[in-house]
Amino acid sequence: MATTIIAPSVLAADFAAMGQVLDRVQSSGAPWLHLDIMDGRFVPNLTFGPKMVADLRKRSSLFFDVHLMTVDPERLAGTFMDSGADAITFHIEACIHAHRLVQDIKARNRKAGVSIVPSTPVGSILPLLPFLDLVLVMTVNPGFSGQSMIPECLEKVRELDSARRNRGYGFSISVDGGINRSTALEAVDAGSDILVMGSAFFEADDAATLVRDLTSRSRL
Ligand code: DX5
Ligand code: ZN
Repeated sequence: MATTIIAPSVLAADFAAMGQVLDRVQSSGAPWLHLDIMDGRFVPNLTFGPKMVADLRKRSSLFFDVHLMTVDPERLAGTFMDSGADAITFHIEACIHAHRLVQDIKARNRKAGVSIVPSTPVGSILPLLPFLDLVLVMTVNPGFSGQSMIPECLEKVRELDSARRNRGYGFSISVDGGINRSTALEAVDAGSDILVMGSAFFEADDAATLVRDLTSRSRL
């Protein structure tokens, strides 16, 4: 069984100290950095744009996991790939020609992911599953860090895990929203490979121990 990947989300960090944020993530041993791009339309919040990603890229070799919470993701994906994204995940609710966008992302040798909000069923992305590197299951309504996980969303993780086993698909499953020491274990047991962590990571007294403990966790 592959080890679990921890992806700290900078949304929960101090935006006035991004250099220190990078240092904290890198010294924790987490291999990914989750970058939430919000446009004030798809979600009721705004974060940052491609320059922030490009500036962080110059200082880091972490895997950059860009999560586009925007309308018209096809207009922005290329810019964030230019800025150094290793993976682009966009929302199925925001994109009509999702298959085309997945192909465009993969043509540039980036990992392609699709995300679903809590009210969106797995069925809405079934035709895309053979083409995806990543499925990101939102376990809160997107827009803010610090919310409590909606446990019912883990049923979708189980459904996705079962679909990939039955059909031999290769995508990884990521969960995002309200993941902490306790909910992380439930998410991994449901079939998650990647744990996005905002507040639980940046509020941890010892982030390295948190990462080590959750990384070594294998499924029941
Ligand atoms: C929420 C974002 C998350 C957020 C998670 O819309 O997509 O990545 O930072 O934060 P926590 O872990 O605090 O729920
Ligand atoms: Zn996110």
